[in-house]
Amino acid sequence: MALGFLLAVLSLAHLSLGGTIFTDPAQVTKNYDFIVVGGGTAGSVVATRLSENPSVSILVIEAGVADNGTDSDIIYTPLLAGTGIGTILDWNYTTTPQSGLNGRALGYPRGFVAGGSSCINSMIYSRGPSDEYNRLATVSGDFGWSWLSLLPYIFKNEKHTPPWNHRSNLGEYNPLAHGYGPLLTGLTPTVYEHDRLVIQTTVDHPLQYPFNLDLNSGNGLGFGWLQTSVGHSVRSTSASTYLRPALDSRGNIDLLLHSQVIKLVATAPNTFNAVQVAQNAAATNYQFTASKEVIVSAGAVGTPQLLMLSGIGPAQQLANVGIASAIDLPDVGNNLQDQMILTLQWEVNGTTMSSFYDDPAAYNAALAQYALNKTGIAAGNPVVNTIGFMRLPSNSPLLDGGDPAAGPNAAHYQLAFLGTFYPNEGQSSPTGGNWMSIAIVVQSPTSRGSISLTSSNAFVHPSINPAFFTTAFDIGTAIQAVKTAKAFVATSAWNDFIIAPFADTAALTTDAEIEAYIRTYSTTLKHPTSTAKISKSSDQGGVVDQHLLVKGASKLRIVDASILPSSVAGYPQAEVYIIAERAADLIKATWGLL
Ligand SMILES: Cc1cc2nc3c(=O)[nH]c(=O)nc-3n(C[C@H](O)[C@H](O)[C@H](O)COP(=O)(O)OP(=O)(O)OC[C@H]3O[C@@H](n4cnc5c(N)ncnc54)[C@H](O)[C@@H]3O)c2cc1C
Ligand SMILES: *[C@@H]1O[C@H](CO)[C@@H](O)[C@H](O)[C@H]1NC(C)=O
Ligand SMILES: *[C@@H]1O[C@H](CO)[C@@H](O)[C@H](O)[C@H]1NC(C)=O
Ligand SMILES: *[C@@H]1O[C@H](CO)[C@@H](O)[C@H](O)[C@H]1NC(C)=O
Ligand SMILES: *[C@@H]1O[C@H](CO)[C@@H](O)[C@H](O)[C@H]1NC(C)=O
Repeated sequence: MALGFLLAVLSLAHLSLGGTIFTDPAQVTKNYDFIVVGGGTAGSVVATRLSENPSVSILVIEAGVADNGTDSDIIYTPLLAGTGIGTILDWNYTTTPQSGLNGRALGYPRGFVAGGSSCINSMIYSRGPSDEYNRLATVSGDFGWSWLSLLPYIFKNEKHTPPWNHRSNLGEYNPLAHGYGPLLTGLTPTVYEHDRLVIQTTVDHPLQYPFNLDLNSGNGLGFGWLQTSVGHSVRSTSASTYLRPALDSRGNIDLLLHSQVIKLVATAPNTFNAVQVAQNAAATNYQFTASKEVIVSAGAVGTPQLLMLSGIGPAQQLANVGIASAIDLPDVGNNLQDQMILTLQWEVNGTTMSSFYDDPAAYNAALAQYALNKTGIAAGNPVVNTIGFMRLPSNSPLLDGGDPAAGPNAAHYQLAFLGTFYPNEGQSSPTGGNWMSIAIVVQSPTSRGSISLTSSNAFVHPSINPAFFTTAFDIGTAIQAVKTAKAFVATSAWNDFIIAPFADTAALTTDAEIEAYIRTYSTTLKHPTSTAKISKSSDQGGVVDQHLLVKGASKLRIVDASILPSSVAGYPQAEVYIIAERAADLIKATWGLL
């Protein structure tokens, strides 16, 4: 009796402490100060930080599913990274046929889940160089976006943790570059001979291929040990590290799942502090108003789509799909940048993860061990442990038209070392043998494409055109990256390790052959940015100002990867987290909540 009473009191206390998770907009009856559109990487951070002030209330509206439902193993088991693509966790977008890729249309995954793309991404944690943030400050005219000013937010977001097996990671990262935040990151638990050879190459050729103790320290060049968004053997997502803890402990934040915001609504001329929501094209629409402001965090595809559906965008284009213009902002959906990825492969004389991936029994055993006690191969990032960021030589003709990188410590291209045969899309894999691959990425592309509407129906996918390889710089840089990858493994450290390049890699000798390979096999690294880019408030172009407020609108802000001016010289999730941390403070400052 007494125990039952106590439990009832405790569970009541628990209920009254936490927020509510709705799955149907009809259930939402309260009024809120803030509405966050999209409970993804950025949206979860913003909503959680705002909820620290108990005097305000927040509703997060997420089109996708819960992160802790039946598919949560796919999200949280590190080995399963990548397998969320094409499942209920994915929007399943497709690009337009890419002229720079022999007309191929690419699958274009985006997270359709609380936590957004942080639930389905490859977990690489790479802040990029200080130059990247300093460029953000220059472009926006706000020193608050500089690396030095953002350091407190970087530390507030992230915390470095040891790998589960506590292998020695001395000399593999710089503890001073890391913080105390909820997002757990760390080095990978299992490293292989090829990873040691990468480091040996930096010892043998320190000028050409310098070692970098910590690529997240603000110096973004050189070769070093990869950090991932994995902590205590589990993927860190913005849902697990921000949103869910807030929902569990605070009564002023609610989450509405399975509900898409289909339109931003103006409650007064150009004052867009209300939203229309529906669960599918045929379902009832509901309208919710934020007494303070609406924050759009729907990502680089969803954000421009939603703005355009609401009449905020290129007026002429909107007229073509029957949408009346509210604010003529030509850059909404414009300037889309993305990064490509392409692999080269070598057969090697040593153990890599090839044998593991070739053996379904070993793979299943790893998952079983992980289920038992969260140890083993499944408990860490599956394939990449070492990575390098490089610049073109300063006298490269590719730079004659100007340098698209953010600054002298920002990379033009990347080499990532993969401990298996990582096939390009459509490339056939060999059977048997031990393999490694090098992935090349153009970090600072100059190609810019667009997101545009094909319909005024919010449930029809927008047209996505990243315009891959439509500039000479991009193809020239990719060719250089392929040559560097081949030169890297031709250094003496690799003599006894490399058996032979895979036939397709061996066949690459002339620039023309390399270019053909690039256009045949490159795909998206899934890093879209810049479709609602930041600029000074005095600038004609751009979509948001230095405070991330939509130009020409009131009570409407954008916080996600779409505001980035360009592709980043690291990987975008870290920068998205960092921007969201500062954005939350900007919003608090606006409303006197700091
Ligand atoms: C497969 C894959 C691998 C990647 N690998 C890496 C990596 O290893 N490292 C790295 O740094 N980056 C990686 N990225 C990129 C990185 O994950 C993203 O850049 C980052 O997560 C984007 O954050 P965001 O907040 O802008 O958008 P998201 O995290 O995508 O959040 C947008 C959210 O808004 C929701 N939404 C959209 N429209 C609406 C609407 N109208 N109404 C309601 N909700 C809506 C979406 O469902 C989603 O939850 C990868 C991405 C993918 C897809
Ligand atoms: C994406 O495709 C998968 C597989 O067909 C499907 O289960 C899922 O519902 C799709 N996602 C969306 C948002 O429709
Ligand atoms: C999912 O997370 C929410 C918020 O933390 C929690 O209320 C709910 O019980 C969780 N569901 C499951 C199935 O664990
Ligand atoms: C692999 O390395 C071993 C020594 O470590 C050597 O004996 C063997 O000949 C090598 N095999 C090949 C194919 O190079
Ligand atoms: C976890 O389980 C595996 C497989 O049963 C076992 O070998 C290992 O010792 C366990 N590790 C810990 C830390 O319990």
